[in-house]
Amino acid sequence: GSGLDSVAKGAGKKYFGTASDTNEFSDTAYMAILNQAGMFGALTPLNSMKWDSTEPSRGSFSFTNADQVVARAKQNGQIMRGHNCVWYNQLPSWVSSSGFNSTTLTSVIQTHCSTLVGHYKGEIYAWDVINEPFNDDGTWRSDVFYNTLGTNYVQIGLQSAKGADGNAKLYINEYNIEMTGAKATSMINLVKSLKSAGVPIDGVGFQCHFIVGEVPTSMSSVMSQITAMGLEVAITELDIRMTLPSTQALLNQQQTDYENVIKQCMAVAGCVGISIWDFTDKYSWVPQTFSGQGAALPWDQNLAKKPAYNGIVAGF
Ligand code: XIL
Repeated sequence: GSGLDSVAKGAGKKYFGTASDTNEFSDTAYMAILNQAGMFGALTPLNSMKWDSTEPSRGSFSFTNADQVVARAKQNGQIMRGHNCVWYNQLPSWVSSSGFNSTTLTSVIQTHCSTLVGHYKGEIYAWDVINEPFNDDGTWRSDVFYNTLGTNYVQIGLQSAKGADGNAKLYINEYNIEMTGAKATSMINLVKSLKSAGVPIDGVGFQCHFIVGEVPTSMSSVMSQITAMGLEVAITELDIRMTLPSTQALLNQQQTDYENVIKQCMAVAGCVGISIWDFTDKYSWVPQTFSGQGAALPWDQNLAKKPAYNGIVAGF
């Protein structure tokens, strides 16, 4: 086959995947690409497994949308990345603003992680159990979890996930750890301390929300320091945005940038796979989040392949 997942597997990787979600499943032209044999070997739900979707009020779980993503992956023979269990964002206010004490918040995290991960036991390759724990300067993010439990919330989440699905790979997922520096160092030190405390941790996710012309060159060095501790790593949310409007020069630079990102994963044996954060500019999160920017993905608004597609292929 010639799709991105076929090329990735041919190069020895486990998968090339994409994020998607049910609100896009009614777009038949989009689905033809999502379902195409050999194109994507893994799916991550963009939103439907997050706390506000899965436990909008305490103890009341809803898996309707997430179940549809998992069913689609199964039909397509794709593996699943679960995203995510514990994150400060898209977190309902009953968690963030109830003033729970440490005992209650511990139980809230345990119930959420074990119910969510347990619902999909045996169906998820890897879970982003903890998402975005650090500030960009490498200090801990001041969210309800850290402020109530200190760093302990990380092991509470990981141990709950482990108890619910002993075979899923348990990840911490983060951005701006793709270059050497304070934030990457904090992640490396966190992994070190979890390992020495015997806390289950299998992988670190590098989100890779990049900017055209500014792709870091030290990512493989950070990745290698983590795989040296016995973990795997993955690129989990890759996109490379530009200031709009796109020009041929920017699209060509983006092709080179995608190729260079893939090459850095190729340079690290323990970099198991790469996922893009959706595959078409039609549904990218970038324009709504970074004003004036977009065109970050390898398929354009009209679902036509961009030069970036060839960059990905060349990177393998
Ligand atoms: C984004 C989704 O793509 C958007 O639809 C949503 O409005 C906000 O979240 N890091 C993450 C992802 O870990 O969950 C985020 O996804 C993008 C940044």
